[in-house]
Amino acid sequence: MSASATSKYRPETRLVQSGILRSQFGETSEALFLTQGYVYDNSAQAEARFKGEDPGYQYSRFANPTVTMLEQRIAAFEGAEAARATATGMAAVTLSMMGQVKAGDHIVASKAIFGSCLYVMEEYLPRYGVESTIVDGRNLDEWRSAMRPNTRTCFLETPTNPNLEVLDIAAIAKIAHEAGATLVVDNVFSTPLWQSPLTLGADCVVYSTTKHIDGQGRCLGGVILGSNKFINDHIHTFIRQTGPSMSPFNAWVALKGLETLAVRVRRQTDTAASVAVALAEHPKISRLIFPGRPDHPQADIVARQMRGGSTLVAFEIEGGKKAAFAFQDALKLVRISNNLGDAKSLITHPATTTHQRLKPEQRKDLSISDGMVRLSCGLEHPDDIIDDLMAALKAA
Ligand SMILES: Cc1ncc(COP(=O)(O)O)c(C=O)c1O
Repeated sequence: MSASATSKYRPETRLVQSGILRSQFGETSEALFLTQGYVYDNSAQAEARFKGEDPGYQYSRFANPTVTMLEQRIAAFEGAEAARATATGMAAVTLSMMGQVKAGDHIVASKAIFGSCLYVMEEYLPRYGVESTIVDGRNLDEWRSAMRPNTRTCFLETPTNPNLEVLDIAAIAKIAHEAGATLVVDNVFSTPLWQSPLTLGADCVVYSTTKHIDGQGRCLGGVILGSNKFINDHIHTFIRQTGPSMSPFNAWVALKGLETLAVRVRRQTDTAASVAVALAEHPKISRLIFPGRPDHPQADIVARQMRGGSTLVAFEIEGGKKAAFAFQDALKLVRISNNLGDAKSLITHPATTTHQRLKPEQRKDLSISDGMVRLSCGLEHPDDIIDDLMAALKAA
């Protein structure tokens, strides 16, 4: 069914039924159109397609039916008019910014974003003549005073990595719009199940489908969502001409991943909430952050803007890096990895991996201590995960 035909259904139904382009064979499961190109019935059709007068496909860098199915399904779930898929989440983030700016423009980004995203904002955009200002995303006054006449767009991630702090999307969108700028939200940590930035005022949402959308650690990918105007003006031609397109195979995996997204993320979030309860009072845990707990630093914003917590829990182990390493190395079930959103539970020591590139004072500023770990809860039985964590804490 097309995205418009499924709009009357609830989100979970849209995740399974939206965007299907069934072929002449009537297959149940979506087909994988593993093709680079397309043939035309005659020369006139080829000409019409290149003129944009015939709606068919031309070349898979521009568009591909399996990729279209993914784009339509995620757009239907997110409530977006349009979506474009990309080769990775970083391609989605980079394009969402590059597609909007030109030399002489200015962007504002919050500092607690994924390391490669910060690199794009701080290092790459300025190389092409786009100035950037990095703010503490929690502080609305910092956003306000960062705006300039040439500010084109703002970028934030919420909940943040790895501290799971929550930023006020509606308030920041308002500040951006008042300054004539747009807002792009990286919604990876929340997933489309728990937070809808477009309905809160954002102009664009980006995902790494590598995380919860695939959800089983197989394929890289990204998606950019927004209004038809946003995607047409800033994204569509950029992808077509520069080529960071998603492969049909990866699109097929992500498309099938969407069918189980709601079930998986609900279960993983429930597990993370149980883990948070089990760890909160442990004498070796000095700080624990889980969106949805009343002691979360932005519990009021969580209640306003999110429909659920998180599949992740962040916590700090007494004894710094030595204790954190001893804890991680003693885990038997939970595996050490920098990835997240997987069926397998994964643990990360941000200070020595994902955030290693930052200077010690930057890590301190972001509250990334040497004893901090980030746990991505998988689909194992919650009690097995908790038993593993409790046993490993004895080694810390
Ligand atoms: C919040 C966030 N945004 C973007 C990305 C980039 O995604 P990818 O690895 O698919 O390029 C990641 C990857 O870890 C991430 O955690």
